[in-house]
Amino acid sequence: MSAAPPLVHLVGAGPGDPDLLTVKALRLIQSADVVVYDRLVGEGILELIPPGTARISVGKESGRHLLPQSEINDLLVSLARPDRRVVRLKGGDPFVFGRGGEEALYLAQYGIAVEVVPGITAASGCAAMAGIPLTHRDVARGVRLITGHFSEDQALEMDWRSLADPSCTLVVYMGIATIGLIAAGLMGAGLDPATPVAVIERGTSGASRSFRGVLDGIKAEIDARGVQPPALIIIGKVVDLALAAELAEAPLPDAVLGL
Ligand SMILES: C[S@@+](CC[C@H](N)C(=O)[O-])C[C@H]1O[C@@H](n2cnc3c(N)ncnc32)[C@H](O)[C@@H]1O
Repeated sequence: MSAAPPLVHLVGAGPGDPDLLTVKALRLIQSADVVVYDRLVGEGILELIPPGTARISVGKESGRHLLPQSEINDLLVSLARPDRRVVRLKGGDPFVFGRGGEEALYLAQYGIAVEVVPGITAASGCAAMAGIPLTHRDVARGVRLITGHFSEDQALEMDWRSLADPSCTLVVYMGIATIGLIAAGLMGAGLDPATPVAVIERGTSGASRSFRGVLDGIKAEIDARGVQPPALIIIGKVVDLALAAELAEAPLPDAVLGL
């Protein structure tokens, strides 16, 4: 009988709060031989790794890669052995702007099996914390997750016409540096400059901050408040439904509540 192939567990750690880990993620973290983790994985989650377990940080710091992606891929290949439990721990969900797909495909090329364990992505975690439903009957019939991150030599090319849909919530990951361009693109394609926007910094962690504004002027507000990554930007009418005190504005109109 042939031996089982080596296996790497690609595990989502959620947005920061350790209570938002899945039970499966917790079991794997606590039974791992080695945990390879990103900077976005919060301290509270790292504390759940047993003291004797090897841990390797491969995250980014202030935009500076501690380890380039190609080296992370090779590291995972070198660690994977049939008799070793390797947990690759990533912030949020591994398959949402997490390069989990790249790692899984690379491992597959070497005959290494991959188990993907989903995590709560920042959009879900931050929206829940803020009390903002990402979709809501008669307010938003869909939600789109986009990245605002582009390398310096790349133009910010987006299909603004399709993104400027007032019936769809737009969630921008990694958009703090490019929000001026994003807001201009959306307004240029016809999205109302008064569209509400929520900005959530370090959502679900003890150090989270959030505020709301409108599309026209959100860059100035973000700059004035000195918002730092990781932060998430939620654009759309659903922001008017926010329950969190620092985001809630006027009492909700009966029409929105369906009364
Ligand atoms: C490389 S992406 C990783 C996303 C992750 N895989 C996920 O599913 O949430 C990093 C970006 O996610 C967003 N993000 C992640 N965690 C966050 C948090 N706790 N609060 C706000 N934004 C967060 C920020 O936009 C950050 O720049």
